Amino acid sequence: MECATIFGVSMECPRVNVASTVSVEKSQKILLGVSGGIAAYKCPELVRRLVERGATVQVVMTEAAASFVTPLSLQAVSGRPVRSALLDPRAEAGMDHIALARWADQILIAPATAHLIARLACGLADDLLTTLVLASTAPVTVAPAMNQQMWQHPATVANVETLRRRGYRLLGPAAGAQACGETGPGRMLEPADIADALLADAAAGTSAALAGRHVLLTAGPTREAIDPVRYVGNRSSGKMGYALAAALRRAGAEVTLVSGPTALPAPAGVTRIDVETAAEMHAAVMARARDAAIFVAAAAVADYRPAAPHPGKLKKHADTLTLELVRNPDILADVAALTADRPFTVGFAAETDDVEAHALAKLHNKGLDMIAANRVGSGVGFEADDNALLVFWHGGRHALPMMPKPALAEALTALIADRYAASTSG
Ligand code: C5P
Repeated sequence: MECATIFGVSMECPRVNVASTVSVEKSQKILLGVSGGIAAYKCPELVRRLVERGATVQVVMTEAAASFVTPLSLQAVSGRPVRSALLDPRAEAGMDHIALARWADQILIAPATAHLIARLACGLADDLLTTLVLASTAPVTVAPAMNQQMWQHPATVANVETLRRRGYRLLGPAAGAQACGETGPGRMLEPADIADALLADAAAGTSAALAGRHVLLTAGPTREAIDPVRYVGNRSSGKMGYALAAALRRAGAEVTLVSGPTALPAPAGVTRIDVETAAEMHAAVMARARDAAIFVAAAAVADYRPAAPHPGKLKKHADTLTLELVRNPDILADVAALTADRPFTVGFAAETDDVEAHALAKLHNKGLDMIAANRVGSGVGFEADDNALLVFWHGGRHALPMMPKPALAEALTALIADRYAASTSG
């Protein structure tokens, strides 16, 4: 079966059905936050649409929301008492707010008013809903609803941008006639559309093989000090590794991301450990590798570091400067060589030429379970938003054609889930 031609090489692919590895493992637990806008009257219908798609819904209202929709209506459709007070001794004696934050697979805030979005952007915790958002690692989806002028105000625009950068997902708003009589952007999306967007994604992303598994991942470049000011570095942006961390998290894995210096925000729900040098990355990974089911090395680790970083800033007295470099530890090879509790180990190979031969050599020489290879150089690979991968494992291969890195990360996650499941099944 001829499945793709990338890097000028046509790939023979075994039948790996990437989509077959994904399924909804269990009912999604959705914490629905309702804030005080007129669109809150649509929330009973939203709860019904979520429940009829198999979700369990716990409603949390802000104080103002109760002016637009009654807690009793939402309790009736969700089948669970609505929570609103942070300091409610009766509720806290049952599932306290920290337990509630941990319970949620996803947080949906609909409608999200301009005021609530501002409170979220500031990281306030001045009521139960905002406290839960801070206390939870679950992905957050926000469905804004407000007057069109408020939506377009620079303060709201900046707050929404802050939430986006933090990894929150925005659904809508739609444009059209508004309750206030104006027309423009600011209408909350229809309940069925919100429910579809939320649960279709969960269904597409959740993998039975990865749910609850601990995945340890490296991403980004490392920096090796020459002196206190300069370093030896590389062009890695971290985009592929971060997209992979987000996709693995969406697939249900518990993800720890050991990251070199990047400008990227940590994906929602991912634990990030910041490091700078290869030695620091090595130490952070080796301390956690035995607790991980899967290790993915997506970092561009410097192979060499200056032998003796200069304690003070180097002065430019001489016409030439010679740096002596020494080898860094190979993190990926060291994890793959673990004898006890070795995780399923996935490497990357960024190559300028002879991609397949180099990738296969690395798969064998480093003792890996899987390797994802890509061509780099002249605008391809590093820093780019799109990429293509050739993925190899013992006895198989799969070509993932050129696509945006988030889509590529989803496809690679499905392949990892497939091969990991195969490795543990026999
Ligand atoms: O041998 P090479 O550097 O080409 O191998 C690339 C793979 O090895 C990547 O997965 C990279 O994250 C990993 N690596 C590592 N530690 C190093 C060098 C590379 O984990 N010191």
